[in-house]
Amino acid sequence: MKKVVELKNINMAFEQKGKFLQRERHIHVLRDVNLDIYAGEIVAVVGESGCGKTTLGRIITGILRPTTGEVLVEGENIYKFDIKKFFRTREKVQFIQQDSYAALNPVKTIAASLRAPIKYHYRHKTYLQIETQIKELLVKVGLNPPAQFLSKYPHMLSGGQRQRILMARAISLDPALIVADEPVSMIDVSMRRSILNLMSELNQSDNISFVYITHDLATARYIAQNGRIVVMYLGEIVEEGKIDEVIANPCHPYTQALIATVPTPDPKIARIKKEIPIKSMDLGSLENRDEGCVFFDRCPYASSECKAKIDYLKIGDTKVKCIKAKELNK
Ligand SMILES: Nc1ncnc2c1ncn2[C@@H]1O[C@H](COP(=O)(O)OP(=O)(O)OP(=O)(O)O)[C@@H](O)[C@H]1O
Ligand SMILES: [Mg+2]
Repeated sequence: MKKVVELKNINMAFEQKGKFLQRERHIHVLRDVNLDIYAGEIVAVVGESGCGKTTLGRIITGILRPTTGEVLVEGENIYKFDIKKFFRTREKVQFIQQDSYAALNPVKTIAASLRAPIKYHYRHKTYLQIETQIKELLVKVGLNPPAQFLSKYPHMLSGGQRQRILMARAISLDPALIVADEPVSMIDVSMRRSILNLMSELNQSDNISFVYITHDLATARYIAQNGRIVVMYLGEIVEEGKIDEVIANPCHPYTQALIATVPTPDPKIARIKKEIPIKSMDLGSLENRDEGCVFFDRCPYASSECKAKIDYLKIGDTKVKCIKAKELNK
């Protein structure tokens, strides 16, 4: 299958300026992240707050350059391109952020916000072609009739409608992949499902791949039903596999703990779910981490072998970064 984006050995460290009399600190937000995203698939990236999901999304879309590692789009390293090719390639991978209000210019009408990127990227299009495309985009994202929305300003729309505008803007450039960072966490619960459905429809109709970033396993499962899940913990991918398999049979103790916290109406899953006696409720620190397992401090099964460098194990189709995964999974 064709790969749209490949991340190879990505590391991302941020410098944090020290406060008064403090030294500058480096926080290592992503560590050795390798991830392939295939054409037409949906990948859910799940993990708790601060584990580096948004940073990962920004790296995938070329908004943020990693400290080390390679980002390949359709097989080519984007940081080897000249600036023109870099921007042209970046059109193929769009980012939708959580806060739809912040993402739209408050003093521009919806029509103007949608017109700008189309005008910039498709210079050969006539005024009439662009206006027609804008209307078609609005219909496609469920804002019908489009005339009702063209002259509105962002504050006149609901959160769900604004999220649809962002979706329209993202698809206007014919992307191969959209990274949606918590797109439904700020909108009304009743609207969430329809936004998730819109993403599924665009995935089906236009074969657009989606990376859906969330801390909510339930919506991840809903949207990536036939897709994959990537579980992150403190800047590392600890488990990756088909979402159904991972939820039914989580291999990493962190994934097991994550799944155990979600109430499920599915009796099959409820039966196999087991409580994991996590040692501490605190999320570890991104600073001064050792080589070994990232979950060491909280893991009830941790022992001295876990302090060495951990490689991924393969269990079925699942990749898991825990040396004990096989014995825990028996
Ligand atoms: N530009 C930056 N400069 C310094 N630190 C940063 C920067 N961006 C992110 N961080 C730090 O990186 C860590 C991961 O942040 P990130 O936003 O990627 O997490 P997240 O998983 O998206 O969290 P959330 O679920 O809260 O959105 C955090 O500790 C954050 O403070
Ligand atoms: Mg985030």
